[in-house]
Amino acid sequence: MLIKTDFHGFVHPTSSDITPPTAYQSRRDMIRLMASGVAGAALASWVGREALAQGWVPPGQHTPLSASKSAVAGALTMEKVTPYKDASTYNNLYEFGTDKSDPAQYAQAMAISPWSVEIEGLVKKPGRFALEALQKLSAQEERIYRLRCVEGWSMVIPWVGYSLAELIRKVEPLGSAKYVEFVTLADPKTMPGVRSSVLDWPYVEGLRMDEAMHPLTLLAFGMYGEALPKQNGAPLRLVVPWKYGFKSGKSLVKIRFTENQPMTAWGRAAPREYGFYSNVNPNVDHPRWSQATERRIGEDGLFAKKRKTLLFNGYDAQVGQMYAGMDLKKFF
Ligand code: MTE
Repeated sequence: MLIKTDFHGFVHPTSSDITPPTAYQSRRDMIRLMASGVAGAALASWVGREALAQGWVPPGQHTPLSASKSAVAGALTMEKVTPYKDASTYNNLYEFGTDKSDPAQYAQAMAISPWSVEIEGLVKKPGRFALEALQKLSAQEERIYRLRCVEGWSMVIPWVGYSLAELIRKVEPLGSAKYVEFVTLADPKTMPGVRSSVLDWPYVEGLRMDEAMHPLTLLAFGMYGEALPKQNGAPLRLVVPWKYGFKSGKSLVKIRFTENQPMTAWGRAAPREYGFYSNVNPNVDHPRWSQATERRIGEDGLFAKKRKTLLFNGYDAQVGQMYAGMDLKKFF
């Protein structure tokens, strides 16, 4: 949700910064959202956007933000949102192939209903949670985050969801839980990539507990005010905006709380290239290429000047403290 916060250092957008409403506010979209459970958030964000456009703030939005809400509000970017068409056709989802166009083409075969997520490991309240229950667990909101891929491109996407911390608090991790492992769907029947040996399936990712609990870490169910397209990780995925995109697992089926650092799919495939932390860092090159600059998908032409990549993808103020004193070249 675009929260107008005069007193929280939030930069107000000019009307030209706001994505044209026609892109994702049609009545038809709202009806689709009603069916998918993203409606509340979309409606809230629509109200917020309308308010900004008219220079008016609904009374409810004047209430002071909680500490975690203000951390999120301060991080929301006012950069131009990537066109929906680019965000939904230029994807990485190796379960459906390694070409950027493969996921949009082949992911439609994936069955996403019914869907549930197993929560297990070092947690007081383990169990299998239906998607519908997860959708209703906390109020969803729209958050516009930068996503920087390790390959050197980036996008700006309006996600819809809530902080993963909300779910973690509900299931009550034990004191011994130091990490969270995320396992995504691997169905060889519908996912041609899973029948190949490009990765050791299923796709597994992990975060340290404080990273998983950080308010910016989003459990996303939608984008652009709609339910997530399958190629973008339907029906639910992670978005960790200060890390390279591959840390944000799509189509989650399992969340496991562990004492030891999880072995990730990319860490297993190429440990010298993909470290556990994978924080966006222009000063730490990938062994085969520089990470100092990036190309913004959909906005910059092929010959346009590249952008400078920012430390922690521009979220240093919000997350830098978690890595204080760590050698980021060693813990890459
Ligand atoms: N999740 C799964 N399950 N499989 C994948 O191949 N690719 C990752 C990540 N999540 C991937 C995944 C990578 S490399 C990136 S850059 C982002 O998803 C891309 O997300 P997007 O297509 O929604 O922009």
